[in-house]
Amino acid sequence: MDNRLTVNYNNKPCYDIVFASDFSGLKDEISDLGFEKRKIAVITDTNVEKLYANEVVNALGNDFDTVVTYAIPAGEEHKNLDEIKKIYEFLMERHFDRHDLLLALGGGVVGDMCGFAAASYLRGVSFIQIPTTLLSQTDSSVGGKTGVDLGGVKNMVGAFYMPRLVYMNVSTLNTLDDRQYASGFAEVMKYGLIKDEHFYTWLIDNMYEINDKDPEIVLEMVKRSCDIKRAVVEKDPTEKADRMLLNFGHTLGHAIEKHKDFEMFHGECVALGSIAAAFISWKRGLLSMEEYYEIRDMFVPFNLPISIEDIDKEAVLDLTKSDKKSDSDKIKFVLLKKIGKAFVDDTVSREEMDKALDEIIYIENND
Ligand code: GLY
Repeated sequence: MDNRLTVNYNNKPCYDIVFASDFSGLKDEISDLGFEKRKIAVITDTNVEKLYANEVVNALGNDFDTVVTYAIPAGEEHKNLDEIKKIYEFLMERHFDRHDLLLALGGGVVGDMCGFAAASYLRGVSFIQIPTTLLSQTDSSVGGKTGVDLGGVKNMVGAFYMPRLVYMNVSTLNTLDDRQYASGFAEVMKYGLIKDEHFYTWLIDNMYEINDKDPEIVLEMVKRSCDIKRAVVEKDPTEKADRMLLNFGHTLGHAIEKHKDFEMFHGECVALGSIAAAFISWKRGLLSMEEYYEIRDMFVPFNLPISIEDIDKEAVLDLTKSDKKSDSDKIKFVLLKKIGKAFVDDTVSREEMDKALDEIIYIENND
């Protein structure tokens, strides 16, 4: 695989994903898309602004009419419509029109918010994803999901809106703290579990290099993840079928995330949700006991939790019902047929989820 992937939408090439090790190629990519002399707004957050906003603005040079930066306060709690309104106002005050461009510089929250602002400002302006975290590079920047949280429900309001380009500077992962990096890895592991047994094995074989952020291995991991995601979203861009498989680990994962008031990272909750889903798959006779324990234990060397304390099981189970992935009271739960093959099942009962939660709740051993 070379350093570029093309993602099709409705069977036509729609946007490229460029894999790079710095920002030096960004200006030419943007010019090639026809945005020379246009206005550019770099939408970022207050953390990423300090790290990369100047570097990106400098890399863009003087070819554009104007380059301005807007920073959203960092954190999931700011992923809301009030903050989107502030982005609209910022763009209006600077007379951004339909031919201008937004750049989403940051992690998943920034990408989702900037994408949603782009989808709705003037009924749609172009935007480019420049993901800087492992989670956004391997998952959220690809596939055109945009949106914000509302009424305590994650991504309740949003749109499918495709970027014009995804530009990944993989070296930004070097400034990512260890916990964020591990959290992103849960989504990488998900790809292996739901779609590609060889990738799952490759991840395990390369666990030391992945943890040490070996540049070649990290690049391969990001590319292979994006290629799996590309194939899924090309087949089912609006989540009618195959794309639902990407929600593996997310039904209970989101419920735990919300129950814990977003104190835990998304990937940590997805890891726990994945273990619970693998447990249910084992109990239904789809996975062997060995496979289940192998999956569970594989999260440990990647610094992800396999158990949790202080949760109210009933409250978590109630929260699975408010997940917007549930459809007329039926939860669309993703289970594994085997490692590398997942399917959606709407018959998973509260009792099955209850037992799966027992499996991941940490009980102190007083022996
Ligand atoms: N992150 C899941 C999806 O893009 O569908």
